[in-house]
Amino acid sequence: MRYVYLATFFVVVLTVGILGFRGSISSRPPLEVFPDMDRQPKLRPQDASTFFADGRADRPLPVGVVARGSMRADAAVYQGRAAVGDWVRGIPSAVTVDARFLQRGRERYSISCAPCHGALGDGNGITKAYGMGATPTFHDDRLRTMAEGEVYNTITNGKGTMMGYADKVVPEDRWAIVAYVRALQRAQHGSVADVPTAHKAELGIQ
Ligand code: HEC
Repeated sequence: MRYVYLATFFVVVLTVGILGFRGSISSRPPLEVFPDMDRQPKLRPQDASTFFADGRADRPLPVGVVARGSMRADAAVYQGRAAVGDWVRGIPSAVTVDARFLQRGRERYSISCAPCHGALGDGNGITKAYGMGATPTFHDDRLRTMAEGEVYNTITNGKGTMMGYADKVVPEDRWAIVAYVRALQRAQHGSVADVPTAHKAELGIQ
């Protein structure tokens, strides 16, 4: 029987010893059973440091450094800029435009742009019904003749009250959207000459 009392006593002392003091504040350093890598001689981002002359832990980036996988040297593709400092006209040749690419553009446009600019690009997106009336149509002469690079730049950086979509739409998709915007513009400015001969009769035209 004595052992039972003793065992109970130790269990109680152990339980209170381990769990009973949780949350209580002590000024003494905690007992570290496995200190492993708790304390390392390292500098955290934006820490101060007496080691470097400028007092900062962060080191300035070497000039011209780019994050791995982010080499974006092609100004036409990544900024929509032509060599002469003007906007690129047409889709840069490094980007292949085919039916799949346009389909991708249509999908991305529907997700990122149509809520404001409308499925037809006429500025009548759903946001208009909620009071955002300032979204322009793509079907006026200024936007129809605007360089593709400038449209690309509007997607990247936004323009006026429109915010940029650089964080949501990757460069290749931006070009896909530009191509699709061009397709929308073309679709709204069709003429009789665009109708294939085989279908002219259906429309009653010669
Ligand atoms: C939240 C609403 C909204 C979304 C989403 C949006 N836009 Fe806009 N966009 C606007 C508004 C508003 C303007 C007019 C900005 C101004 O002139 O101040 C505008 C202007 C433009 C212009 C004309 C810029 C100029 O030079 O006048 C283009 C081109 C354009 N948007 C393309 C796009 C494309 C492509 C997308 C999708 C990636 C997109 N927008 C998504 C609201 C939006």
